[in-house]
Amino acid sequence: MASVTFILRLTCSATETKMGDQMMPPMLAFDIYGTLIDTRAVITQLAQWLPNEAAQFVTLWREKQLEYSFRRGLMRSPCDFTVPTRDALDYCCDQLGCDLTETQRAQLMAHYARLPAFADAATGLAEAKARGFRLCAFSNGSQKTVTHLLRQAGLLPYFEQVVSVEVVGSFKPHPQVYQHVLTTMQVQAQDSWLISGNAFDVIGADQQGFHTAWIQRNPQQAFDVWRTDTGPVQPSLVRPGLEALAAHIGHYLDQQQP
Ligand code: 2OP
Repeated sequence: MASVTFILRLTCSATETKMGDQMMPPMLAFDIYGTLIDTRAVITQLAQWLPNEAAQFVTLWREKQLEYSFRRGLMRSPCDFTVPTRDALDYCCDQLGCDLTETQRAQLMAHYARLPAFADAATGLAEAKARGFRLCAFSNGSQKTVTHLLRQAGLLPYFEQVVSVEVVGSFKPHPQVYQHVLTTMQVQAQDSWLISGNAFDVIGADQQGFHTAWIQRNPQQAFDVWRTDTGPVQPSLVRPGLEALAAHIGHYLDQQQP
């Protein structure tokens, strides 16, 4: 009954967008890696081969993968997200002195293509859908990779669309990738939310006018300090996970009503 009430409230809400004769509910763009899908899950495989370095390896791999994607964007050298992922994997082996064979490295890359969802992902998406929001998946990963990943994790049916940055030829947080998701979903930034566990992604979307929710997957991790002319960037919402996120977004939007 609560969700029916909210949908009715959403239907009458000033937060809706008029698209022709149709009133559109707000759109939620969900980041994939580190938000819905757990990149740290490769630790199970790594721990079998590198019991002493696995934890450090998995952290460095993710950090370096993102750094390489930022640099690819700055250098305007577009590529599939698997390229910075694989380059970062090889870097970690060199940096940490881990002698993984080609077969083991290929196995890790294969593992990356079928990473599991966080335990709260399906519940959070189901709640958001039940409350009438429009949902899309939005990632640095290619359309094909992300579609496969979401299908095997059981999350694909929740989404209206899978939107990849690949057609833009850059990576997050390039401003054009956020414009691309708005164009694809035919929605204005003020009627859109970026839901991400990655602070750099939240900041990138905030600067393009999105509402944002930072999913603080690691309670020890502070949000990035990012000053702008109008003050430091703060997420619209901070949540420890995806459960009850939709209710909090609904509450936030209700409070924004004049
Ligand atoms: C994603 O785009 C940034 O890794 C993150 O899925």
